Amino acid sequence: MKKIHTLIYLLFACAGQSQNTAIVTIQANSPLTINKNIYGHFSEHLGRCIYDGFWVDDKLPVPKTDRIRMDIVDALKKINIPNLRWPGGCFADEYHWRDGIGVRAQRPKMINTNWGGVTEDNSFGTHEFLELCNLLGCEPYITANVGSGTVEEMSKWVEYLNFDGVSPMTAIRAQNGKEKPWKVSYWGVGNESWGCGGNMTPEFYADQYKRYASFAKNYPNAPLKKIASGASDLDYKWTETCMQKIPLRMMWGLSLHYYTLAGTWQHKGPGTGFSEQEYFSALQHCLFMDELVTKHSAIMDRYDPDKRVALVVDEWGILTDVEPGTNPSFLYQQNSLRDALIAASTLNIFNNHCDRVRMANLAQTINVLQALVLTDKEKMLLTPTYYVFLLYKVHQDATWLPVQVNTPDYVLADKKIPAVNVSASRDKNGVVHISLVNLDPAKKITVSINLPGINWQGQEGEILTAANFTDINTFDKPNTIVPQKFDGAKKQGSELQAELPAKSVVLITLK
Ligand code: AHR
Repeated sequence: MKKIHTLIYLLFACAGQSQNTAIVTIQANSPLTINKNIYGHFSEHLGRCIYDGFWVDDKLPVPKTDRIRMDIVDALKKINIPNLRWPGGCFADEYHWRDGIGVRAQRPKMINTNWGGVTEDNSFGTHEFLELCNLLGCEPYITANVGSGTVEEMSKWVEYLNFDGVSPMTAIRAQNGKEKPWKVSYWGVGNESWGCGGNMTPEFYADQYKRYASFAKNYPNAPLKKIASGASDLDYKWTETCMQKIPLRMMWGLSLHYYTLAGTWQHKGPGTGFSEQEYFSALQHCLFMDELVTKHSAIMDRYDPDKRVALVVDEWGILTDVEPGTNPSFLYQQNSLRDALIAASTLNIFNNHCDRVRMANLAQTINVLQALVLTDKEKMLLTPTYYVFLLYKVHQDATWLPVQVNTPDYVLADKKIPAVNVSASRDKNGVVHISLVNLDPAKKITVSINLPGINWQGQEGEILTAANFTDINTFDKPNTIVPQKFDGAKKQGSELQAELPAKSVVLITLK
């Protein structure tokens, strides 16, 4: 009987696909939670992310707390930003935290060798970052220096941040105006240690990790969640070696970095005015995240079947050529509807791997790579990617609902990718949210959604789309791409039917 049912389902699914329909089944429950930290962000001392982004000139006519830009803080609070990774990136492994505390005018300057050789004045340091997190209401995630730092330096930073008692570091902290510890929890031990973080082998890094992590102490009521610097892309050997050599009890997480490219590292492709070929290629690269997460997780499963160690995708997003006329080392790129589709699809992938992916950080928050916010002096705009995070915030800390998707393909010449991707969750109030993406740039797709065991009477929805996949928000026209009410869904018997316009992100809430 079950076989006949499956056959009918498949026949129906295949027939449906040829007519541009997708069939989705969403289960009513699961034991898994979508960790809110999947919706985390990353801000490095790179280009105009910190300086001229979060941290602006005293005289800039915008609302500020100290030199922190409050219009940006308010925008990020609206998406419930759960955590912020800092100070890098590659910068982390040349950052010496003691240069960034004390009287600002007396802080030593340094060269930011990774990002254009500009002078870093250290005016944004530990206190300023933690005040920013306090204003954002988010958890700090600090990546500490392994590449050019010392075990002692890292150990003392943790003491400065987290110890509540009499000690050399807490005395300095008090002198700098902070009596009580911050109790930072997320702690990265190096960044890209296979590359800019020290060009190490995985074996050497695993040994270094154990050494550094041993002296990053858990002070009373301030246990650290230590995150090992993980693999890039397909480097499965790195993941395997870390899992093999580092005792599970010493690691809260192991990271993974993966950037989406439309072209090659040499010719990444433009952020605006790209062709359909480049659009397709970027989406295809983005969807590869699913295979990467699956394969790195499978390696982790062999050493950690109970899934105690989180896979932390702490750098992801699309990397394009920089905007013409901007400093190539500052990685300033525009953000189009395509990039919103990439964000939405990637977040669907993370939601659907929430058994192992428990933290992720989009690179980078302001004016760098796949930014949420772009600024031009006092002007600021929210990118299409920002609005994906606004729509998807309903998934944070919600119960993950398993989805089965049968979708037509989006075909370009001799290549194809699945046109529709989906994730779903039930929030603390029992409300079910479904996020759907149609990547096909030309065809609307009707999605029939079966919801066995889910009680619902109606629905409401929001949509993010635009006339062209190259459309962007600009300082002159900041609202070209913003969420709109979606009325393309209806109840059809016990099924939910949604007409997804071409190149759109839709969030449906069941009522
Ligand atoms: O996000 C930009 C850079 O990309 C980061 O500094 C580094 O970790 C990665 O290679």
